[in-house]
Parts: sequence; C-alpha cells; structure tokens
Amino acid sequence: MSKLLMAGKKGIVLGVANKRSIAWAIAKACSEAGAEVAFTYQGEKLKPRVEELVKTLPGDPPLYECDVTNDEDIASVGASLAKDFGTIDFLVHSLAFADKADLEGNFVDTSRRGYLMAQEISSYSLTALARMAAPLMETGGSIVTMTYLGGERVVRNYNVMGVAKAALESSVGYLAAGLGERAIRVNAVSAGPLNTLAARGVAGFTTILKDVADKAPLRRNVELEEVANAGLFLLSDMSSGITGEVLYVDCGYNILGM
Ligand SMILES: NC(=O)c1ccc[n+]([C@@H]2O[C@H](COP(=O)([O-])OP(=O)(O)OC[C@H]3O[C@@H](n4cnc5c(N)ncnc54)[C@H](O)[C@@H]3O)[C@@H](O)[C@H]2O)c1
Repeated sequence: MSKLLMAGKKGIVLGVANKRSIAWAIAKACSEAGAEVAFTYQGEKLKPRVEELVKTLPGDPPLYECDVTNDEDIASVGASLAKDFGTIDFLVHSLAFADKADLEGNFVDTSRRGYLMAQEISSYSLTALARMAAPLMETGGSIVTMTYLGGERVVRNYNVMGVAKAALESSVGYLAAGLGERAIRVNAVSAGPLNTLAARGVAGFTTILKDVADKAPLRRNVELEEVANAGLFLLSDMSSGITGEVLYVDCGYNILGM
C-alpha cells in the first residue's frame, strides 16, 4: 500500500484566487499527498494568477472556468472532469462573496439584492456543485466546504456572510443525509480568521485577528497550513466515518463563553 494519503485519488478544488487562498493551501496539501487535482478560476481576470500557481504542481493539472452563478459553467466543469478524469473522489468548495457594503454597519440595512447574492454564491453553490459532482463519484467521495464561526454566532461586521454561512452549514447536513447512501461524505471546516482577499472585505478584519490571538486557548491565530491539513483529513479515507460535521480549526476560539 502506498504511504501517500491521497494516492490514486482525483478531485477538483474551487476557490483559488492567489497563493493565500485556503483553496490553494488545500490543493497543495492534496497534491503533496499524491492526489491529482483539477482547478477552476472565477473569470478571465483571475485566470493568469491561478494558471501560474497551478503550473507549479506536478502532472499538468486541468484548469476550467467556473463562475458558480452560472449553471452552464457548472455543467461544463462536470463534462470536462468526466473527459479528463473519468471519475472523481473529492471536491473542495472554498468560495464566498458578498458586497463590501454588506460587510459593515448594521445588518438591518442589508439589501434584498445583496442578501440574495451572498446566499447564491456562498451557500447555494455548494448544493449545485454537489449535484454536478455526485454522478462522477462512482465509488463514493468526499466534499469539503469552508465556513466561519460568524455563521453560528454574531461576529461584528460579518453580517450577510454570517447568514450565508448558517445556510451553508445547514446545507452540509442535508447534503450529507441525501448523499450518504452513495458513500459520499459532506463536511465543513470552520477556520479561524486568515488574512486572505475575501477576509479583507470584512470591515475591521485586523481587529478580529488581534482579538482571536489575544483570547483563543492557543493564544494565536491559526496557520493556513493547519486549515489545509484539516481539509486534507476530511478529504482522505482517514475520516471515512465522518459526515455532516463542522470541524473547527480555530485555535479553540469557538469553545469560549466569556
Ligand atoms: N479567510 C478567512 O478568515 C476565512 C475563515 C473561515 C472561512 N473562510 C472561507 O474560506 C473560503 C475561501 O476564502 P479565502 O479566505 O481563501 O479567500 P479567497 O479570496 O482567497 O477565496 C475566495 C474565492 O471565492 C471565489 N469566488 C467568489 N465569487 C465567486 C463566483 N461567483 N464563482 C466562483 N468563485 C467565486 C474567488 O474567485 C476566490 O477564489 C470562503 O468560503 C471563506 O468564507 C475564510
């Protein structure tokens, strides 16, 4: 038996924007563990940066365009995966978006458009992608998404994204229940704050980083690699008995009351 955790496994990672992206860290961990990984980029603007990163991995990984608001893009990713990989074993959903204006101030001011957009991109997309991927997971598989404590408790300025993460976490349970008989597992990693492009959209993000480092049981912020390793665990057969879970990788911050 190979010593590599993901040897022989193939999958797709959505959500790489740059080298700080959680998606990139998970993809690198999977590749180092022996997996073949396909990637997507959101649109032409992001393509060159993602292409450059992807080229650094062995095996000339496939790269497809996918804006998750576009059903045709999602269907086309499914067709490309079937052509390039035949079947897949895992999918990483590491993407979210909300208008900057909805990530500050008072939640009561959230517009209908902003609310629906955050839900569509950050939550519904997991269901749409799971539906695309499930038929390709012929012998079972693992789907992992990324969430944050703000989906469960009120976190300053997280606002509309907190509500989207609540829906996302609930979707993890319903998807796990619906796909379990096909041996497809669905889990979320709830990461502590990390300095990424998406996180910097939340007003006062640096204060959140400092607060967590001051108060978390481990008295520091989580490292990108620690989040990636938890993702790798949930994608691998090491977690074969786990589905519908939210795994906190936040230096223990979520256990705190006062
Ligand atoms: N950084 C943190 O502190 C933190 C903590 C917990 C959870 N998360 C979650 O991790 C995930 C990844 O975020 P990140 O922090 O790595 O930031 P990031 O900015 O690197 O990644 C966000 C990704 O979402 C993609 N995206 C946005 N709209 C899209 C669309 N319409 N179609 C396809 N892709 C789209 C972007 O292209 C980008 O690649 C997000 O779900 C985020 O909420 C982040």
